[in-house]
Amino acid sequence: MTDKCTKNFVSQPTVALHRPADMETNSKETLQADFDVFDISEDFGFLLEEPLVGFTLIFSLLMMQCSHLRRILFCHILDKSKQMPVLSPDLLSDHRELRLAHLALGFISMGYVWQEGQHAPILPKALALPFWLVSRRLGLPPILTYADSVLANWKLKDPTGNMDLIFSFPGGDTCRGFFIVSLLVEMAASPVMHAIKVSNLTGIKNGLIKVTQSLKKMKEKFKFMHNHVEPAAFHGKLRIFVSGWRDNPMLPRGVLYEGVSDEPILLSGGSAAQSSAIQCFDALLCIKHEEETAFLTRMRDYMPPAHRQLIETLSACPPLRDFILSCSNSDLCQAYNSCVSALVDLRNYHLNTVTKYVIIPGNYAQSVGCPFRGVGTALNTTGTGGSNLMVFLKSVRNTTQKALILERLS
Ligand code: HEM
Repeated sequence: MTDKCTKNFVSQPTVALHRPADMETNSKETLQADFDVFDISEDFGFLLEEPLVGFTLIFSLLMMQCSHLRRILFCHILDKSKQMPVLSPDLLSDHRELRLAHLALGFISMGYVWQEGQHAPILPKALALPFWLVSRRLGLPPILTYADSVLANWKLKDPTGNMDLIFSFPGGDTCRGFFIVSLLVEMAASPVMHAIKVSNLTGIKNGLIKVTQSLKKMKEKFKFMHNHVEPAAFHGKLRIFVSGWRDNPMLPRGVLYEGVSDEPILLSGGSAAQSSAIQCFDALLCIKHEEETAFLTRMRDYMPPAHRQLIETLSACPPLRDFILSCSNSDLCQAYNSCVSALVDLRNYHLNTVTKYVIIPGNYAQSVGCPFRGVGTALNTTGTGGSNLMVFLKSVRNTTQKALILERLS
């Protein structure tokens, strides 16, 4: 570590890896304050800590509807949703109550819109209005997001810490498996929350090592997908229920939210592309996805505002990569490169998974003329046999790889 480079580095006031050294900011209180600002949990990362699983108020009606989602015929949802009173979310005050309401309204709205293959382009007022109001208060769009179906959709199954879902869609074990594995992948990122806030070179190196460990653990958890998620059920059922109404040939004009707007609204469906963890790693490691920026940045609109803010704060920090380049410290450079390689590896693994769960079943569905072939991805892949999707994901992977520091350090 040279004095010059430390001085340049530490003179920049920021929040995360780039904290001024002389501020002694590693105290538990300050760390906790930052966790609170960005609504992240020391133990659970971006997951909502201890989500509520039920309401005591009138919203319990909604819970009843949702918990039956897996069992009842969707025509019943259609009928019941139309008959439901228009609930007012005014009585919901706590953040966790609002998140549960968003989750419940999200699940039931997806069930309503995609019921048994006959998509409904109008969301009845009883769903649309409370969903709109709750969404406005949370700063989330009125559609089921990753922040709902994964981050806020869990409960402890038993005192040993085993987790279960609050709500699930039809699709049996595949649906449950998909959300739980995603939850485990997300949780594997949580130790990084400690690592992103350090004050000196050793701290930065150790922080990068922790990020690498987390990325490797994320990949290990990701592998469970293959034991618990069946491609045909994923593609033929679950994917449809999480589909949105933007870039979707089944609902080209979007969905009309009755009682909210006279025009249909276009919104993307839930996708792990809305995971704040991966975008935080990109921001931290200064990986800039130039061509893919529009889609990835748009996905931030589907994240809780505090998480979005963390990505933006990290992106605005003095670039860590430039700092490492200026330091001529081979240990630090190696720690950075290991981190980037682990992210490339995770993205490669993800690419293969997408081939198995989206491209191959999609090609099969096309060959047998299934009308749902084109739905289910947030990206527009219509008529391209999924090639846009693969081009996009490969390009994101390649940009990650380009961040590797190849220069010989003197
Ligand atoms: C069966 C499992 C999975 C499938 C089939 C799948 C599919 C996809 C698809 C189709 C996209 C393109 C965007 C979209 O249309 O939604 C995407 C993007 C993305 N997915 Fe997944 N995904 C899976 C699991 C996961 C998991 C567990 C994570 C980790 C949190 C993840 C993280 C991402 C990220 C971060 C992107 C944006 C591109 C990037 O930054 O590399 N995915 N995924």
